[in-house]
Amino acid sequence: MNGIIVAIDGPAASGKSTTARRVAQRLDYCHLNSGLLYRTIAWLGLRDDWIHDSDRFAYELERIRITMERRSPGFIVRANGEIPGDELTAPQTAIRASHVAARLDVRERVLEVLRAAGLNGGIACDGRDIGTVVFPDAALKIFLVASVEERARRRVADHGVEPDRERLELEISRLRERDARDSARDLAPLLRAPEAIEIDTTRLTPDEVVDEIVGLAVERGA
Ligand code: C5P
Repeated sequence: MNGIIVAIDGPAASGKSTTARRVAQRLDYCHLNSGLLYRTIAWLGLRDDWIHDSDRFAYELERIRITMERRSPGFIVRANGEIPGDELTAPQTAIRASHVAARLDVRERVLEVLRAAGLNGGIACDGRDIGTVVFPDAALKIFLVASVEERARRRVADHGVEPDRERLELEISRLRERDARDSARDLAPLLRAPEAIEIDTTRLTPDEVVDEIVGLAVERGA
């Protein structure tokens, strides 16, 4: 292993990806964003129009070639050789991703890709089941939480639009819907591993969160 595995889980828009990326940069590790894989599958399924047909979905999924190439400070994901674009961050892709993420065949496929990418350690990996299922032996497990209002505010700001009441309400209901689906599913639901350290980021700056995690990672051998 070239470094430890830092597993960062939490609900949608709790700051996992930004935090994981910055932790990885500080430690000279790579950021492994597991949500990107679910988003990539949903994006391809939407674009090539097989997302709504369960049998065809299973058939196409078996044929997709997904590769992840370590390229500091992250990984480059390719699906059948294509690098997905900005469509991956669209709210519609996120919602579709949370539907496809409830399928067993999808989870098995993503698990395989993630474990191969993390084989040599030296990663900060974020998602919903990283500390519980993907890397249960990770040396450091973090569970990030924040109030749904704060998460909606951050999401709206990320999209560069005015945070008026209507937009915030829409985002809050989208986040609640996605959290409910991610927490209630039978397969690898969003769960805090018993040994994970919970950090509530509602009133913390990104720097404060990153400093705390980097400090813990160094204590554990990073
Ligand atoms: O983290 P992100 O918002 O990009 O994830 C998109 C969707 O992918 C989530 O709502 C969730 O349903 C799914 N996901 C998952 N397990 C992970 C990461 C993401 O089920 N480890």
